[in-house]
Amino acid sequence: MKILVVGGGGREHAITRALTCNSGVRIFSVMAKRNPGIARAAERFIIGKETSIESVLRFAAECNPDAAIIGPEAPLEAGIVDALEEAGIPCVGPSRAAARLETDKSFCRQMMDEHGIAGCPRYRVFYSADDAASFIENHDGDLAIKPIGLTGGKGVRIMGEHLDRAGAIDYVHRIGGNVVLEERLVGEEFTLQAFVDGRHVVPMPLVQDHKRAYDGDIGPNTGGMGSYSLPDHMLPFVSGEDYAKALQIMKDATDAMKISGFPYRGILYGQFMNTKQGPKVIEFNARFGDPEAMNVLSILESDFPDIVCSMIEGNLSASDVRFADRATVCKYLVPEGYPDAPVTNQPIALGEQGDALLYYASVEERDDTLYTMTSRTLAFVGIGDSLSEAERIAERAASSVKGRVYHRRDIGTQALLDERCRHMQEIL
Ligand code: AMP
Ligand code: GLY
Repeated sequence: MKILVVGGGGREHAITRALTCNSGVRIFSVMAKRNPGIARAAERFIIGKETSIESVLRFAAECNPDAAIIGPEAPLEAGIVDALEEAGIPCVGPSRAAARLETDKSFCRQMMDEHGIAGCPRYRVFYSADDAASFIENHDGDLAIKPIGLTGGKGVRIMGEHLDRAGAIDYVHRIGGNVVLEERLVGEEFTLQAFVDGRHVVPMPLVQDHKRAYDGDIGPNTGGMGSYSLPDHMLPFVSGEDYAKALQIMKDATDAMKISGFPYRGILYGQFMNTKQGPKVIEFNARFGDPEAMNVLSILESDFPDIVCSMIEGNLSASDVRFADRATVCKYLVPEGYPDAPVTNQPIALGEQGDALLYYASVEERDDTLYTMTSRTLAFVGIGDSLSEAERIAERAASSVKGRVYHRRDIGTQALLDERCRHMQEIL
């Protein structure tokens, strides 16, 4: 089987590894910069813009893959799935219209509203900055301010956390309108990812990501500094009932998309805030999370290419998808100064990797040396029978890297997990 993988980050390296680890799948890759891990696994790759439909189509025509998997959101928004499918290449990834679940925050909220889907925070959509500003002026309580379109995960501002009221008004003027304002949710965040074939929704283990740059959840928001999952695929601050509600929300969203004429096929990523009132949807993404893909795909026991086939044929079933009952901890190394002023082009040397899996991300390989670039550099995933074992494996590998990079030492530690549980208890 030949599979085209679009994207060149840690997530796509994890996709590539999962596709090739137990079968002879041939990988063809389109990536914006050369990911050393993907480059080594791929039969052929091109370096080019992942949103350039024409060049992806040209490459696909040369490789003639049986299927394509789209890693990042930008090519989905550019309509890559529509174009590839028209050319006869079935895709794991939604059409441009269905990807609006992620790419258009007003579409997402309105869809949830129209179909009466649970877990939608109170929200208002504004196209004019003045109207948004006057709403903020007169609103009692904190709001989340979200530009409608894609911002690479860096556009959301939370009143009471990043901004006060005057700052919020300033911010909507700076964005210039086209904004969703919604109630600020308080709780613990978790990620539920699922394989979706248009009708069936098959969940993956729950994961918790860490957005803040520094230990103790302080510092600026990032693309995600690391993440963990537990052997029972649950999280201790998400009850069985909350989990069932979250999964039902994902199923209801899939049904709603089908009814609305935009059937959803691909990875559906639900980012939830577990609140006093149960799980609420922070957002949907139309793809795997990065880093969360690395947690789940590293313990996927079923054959990933088989899952891809079932998704394409529309007969996906839970019995096709099995994950090992093990804990995972993923730690990203990022350049010093990341995310605001990352030091680029700095050499780094890997140390003792032990049993950790290594996923490359935004890193340049020159003459056998790795150099930092502007974004997250590479990640280690530890897998263990317990969280602490997985954490030890990831931490040992991460801390043995030499160079101007840093990582969060607290991700996956029992102390951090206890803190999450304490926070949840406080809310309930
Ligand atoms: P997003 O780009 O939508 O993933 O949002 C980035 C971060 O903003 C999320 O991970 C949350 O921590 C936070 N966030 C988004 N929406 C809300 C909300 N309604 N209430 C509180 N925090 C939010
Ligand atoms: N980890 C957050 C995301 O992939 O959007």
